[in-house]
Amino acid sequence: MAELTETAARPTRAYVIHPDLGRARTQRREPEHALTEAVALALALPGIEMVGSEVANLREPNPGKLFGKGKLAEIGERLKALEVELVLIDGPVTPVQQRNLEKDWGVKLLDRTGLILEIFADRARTREGVLQVELAALSYQRTRLVRAWTHLERQRGGLGFVGGPGETQIEADRRAIDEQMTRLRRQLERVVKTRSLHRAARAKVPYPIVALVGYTNAGKSTLFNRLTGAEVFAKDMLFATLDPTMRAIRLPDVAGGGSGRKIILSDTVGFISDLPTELVAAFRATLEEVLEADLILHVRDISHPETEEQAADVAEILDNLGVDEDVAAIEVWNKIDALGPETRAALRRTDARTEGVQAVSALSGEGLDDLIAAIDHALGTVLDDERLPETLVLDFADGRARAWLHEAGVVEREEAAEDGLHLDLRWTARQKGAFAAFTGAERDEYEDEDQGADRRPGGWHPAD
Ligand code: GTP
Repeated sequence: MAELTETAARPTRAYVIHPDLGRARTQRREPEHALTEAVALALALPGIEMVGSEVANLREPNPGKLFGKGKLAEIGERLKALEVELVLIDGPVTPVQQRNLEKDWGVKLLDRTGLILEIFADRARTREGVLQVELAALSYQRTRLVRAWTHLERQRGGLGFVGGPGETQIEADRRAIDEQMTRLRRQLERVVKTRSLHRAARAKVPYPIVALVGYTNAGKSTLFNRLTGAEVFAKDMLFATLDPTMRAIRLPDVAGGGSGRKIILSDTVGFISDLPTELVAAFRATLEEVLEADLILHVRDISHPETEEQAADVAEILDNLGVDEDVAAIEVWNKIDALGPETRAALRRTDARTEGVQAVSALSGEGLDDLIAAIDHALGTVLDDERLPETLVLDFADGRARAWLHEAGVVEREEAAEDGLHLDLRWTARQKGAFAAFTGAERDEYEDEDQGADRRPGGWHPAD
């Protein structure tokens, strides 16, 4: 597969086929919309020139060549006329079918899982993302080997052979894949451990976490960039963000809202429908960050004809991930600029009336001030409801703890006394926990270095 995506001097001429299973169809999507999504997916591959696409009837899939004779020839003609080099089939294709079709049509062929794997591989940025994708790719290859092998075995069985060089080779390939998968799993375990350390480190951050989730192409990266002013790879392609990207930002101090509150904004990979099962683990691993969020922004492309189905998919996945229903969430109805003026005005009216909904355009900026105010307000409700007063006494030497408290904005008054610095605070249980984690970790660092208890920083205690 690799040679397909290498950046060639000339782009590869690609053609997308969405097989429509007719009544046997399990997907809720209209075939035309599924085709549009598949084309968008394919465009996420580097070095591709899209020369055409079609929905192809596939009421009775042919085991050898997927399509029936007539259809096969008809599509073949089109591919020839368009000088197609790569055909992407938006569905499963068996190895046997793949071989036959490649031969018949004189093209290279990828099925949906193969395509998504290519994209994941291209987008994975963290160590864990890369490992998960490699693992998924191997398990995909392994199934293909098994299937090819079953097929060969049947042929050989007919001839009365047992074993044979082909089978030995396939057995060896399988073993090699299994060994490689075991190695990857071990590495992955280590990476996951490191990540939970990072997560623990984040727990010390004095800011709340806001996670952007949503269907692919909904505009998450565009909104993320708008809010952070950061370059996060926003392009008109799917999966521009396979691994979560996090930025600490200050909410803009807009008129009518925005307290200048600091938050961590986290962008996540886009959801898609009918994700091949081999890829579910890889996808989920990139989403676990959402579980820690204080507030979830569910970004929706409200101009998309299947926006409701997409929203239902996202809700289902969040539910499966174990995201608590009680976690505060805002639905961001994005791309209102792509709608007619009347629909747009109606949506803005709806959002004004509906709790937890904000209609915006990440592109034009319309509605963003209201969104920021809503984020601020939601976090206020989540975090500030129970801000309890407390007075701490800090060692004079403990500048870092003092800096942390000021950074978190919880200090109301401070005064130097004989026994140290007295700080009147007003903070939430969460902030208090984060502070304890911060000072605790600092102590651990010292203990690790074997510096002795007398040199530990963080000498603070609540005032009596
Ligand atoms: P994934 O990374 O695939 O999950 O996508 P995403 O949700 O991060 O979407 P992204 O921000 O990359 O935007 C996808 C496309 O939608 C890009 O072409 C954006 O320019 C476009 N887009 C984003 N926001 C808006 C908007 O408010 N209006 C319009 N018209 N287009 C938008």
